[in-house]
Amino acid sequence: MTPIYRPRRSVLYVPASNARAMAKASSLDVDCVIYDLEDAVAPESKEDAREALRDHFTASKTAGFERIIRINHLSSQWGSEDLLAARACKPDAILLPKVEMPQDVTAVAEVLDETDASENIRLWAMIETPRGILNSDEIAELGLRSAARLECFVVGTNDIARETRTRLEPGRAGFLPWLMQILLCARAGKLDVIDGVFNDYSNMDGFIAECAQAAALGFDGKTLIHPTQIPGANAAFATSPDEIAAAEKIVAAFALPENGGSGAIGLDGRMVERMHLDMARRTLAKSGRKLPQ
Ligand code: COA
Ligand code: MG
Repeated sequence: MTPIYRPRRSVLYVPASNARAMAKASSLDVDCVIYDLEDAVAPESKEDAREALRDHFTASKTAGFERIIRINHLSSQWGSEDLLAARACKPDAILLPKVEMPQDVTAVAEVLDETDASENIRLWAMIETPRGILNSDEIAELGLRSAARLECFVVGTNDIARETRTRLEPGRAGFLPWLMQILLCARAGKLDVIDGVFNDYSNMDGFIAECAQAAALGFDGKTLIHPTQIPGANAAFATSPDEIAAAEKIVAAFALPENGGSGAIGLDGRMVERMHLDMARRTLAKSGRKLPQ
């Protein structure tokens, strides 16, 4: 299956138990919303949150952003019901927490297949435990098999900090090997990968610095906890006007009739191959621009 590239610069968590936040999310300029049934929802509110989510998706069949539902782990008391409710909502993806081995993903893909869920419902996986990080290579390989539905990794830095006892400090020195390991595995499996959250949402300077770091490391975007973080993430992970102009030029050059069958062409004195055309298409899709016809 040809991958569909989408901008995933800003990925906002919205607790499904918070009616005001759910309503607010619909009006935000965000690339993705993760409706959360897991950690943001207290045990006593799990069932109400699931109901609220059902009502929300019934009332809003579509949205101007990707919609993802994070469910509780299948091994928890809420997992199976969450999965069935999420499936019925027909989101773009279901986000699985604490993925530690490929079976955590394939088990959910099997349930979706058995219940004839649309292939358009993809899976995202949280990598947020030491075991998950160590196995992220094997897990990411599922990205090469469309039937496994896996499309994206989300890094759970708060859980990693808790389980490793490594402090989340400015610059995240202790985390860098793990962030890069997860990113490398994601790329080997042709997955997108989204950085963890920045908890201190009143510290905008710290947040902007962490977005810049994540963009430089190669992440596609950042998970967010508050609407004020959206513009900074959209800017940090945006494609620059120069990159867009260069990509448009490559797409236009290959669209010329005389270049239709060429594997490599000359453009402004430089060799450009079909590989660069693929990269240019991805750049434009990630920027949120429409491809020139
Ligand atoms: N998504 C959508 N809207 C949000 C939001 C979010 N994550 N966080 C806050 N808002 C809304 C509020 O509802 C409020 O809008 P309103 O005035 O229309 O009601 C506005 O933004 C300002 O919110 P504010 O008063 O500054 O924050 P708060 O005290 O309501 O909420 C948090 C603070 C931290 C509880 C809230 O931001 C939150 O729940 N974030 C997500 C937490 C989460 O999902 N964690 C799990 C993954 S790490
Ligand atoms: Mg977590």
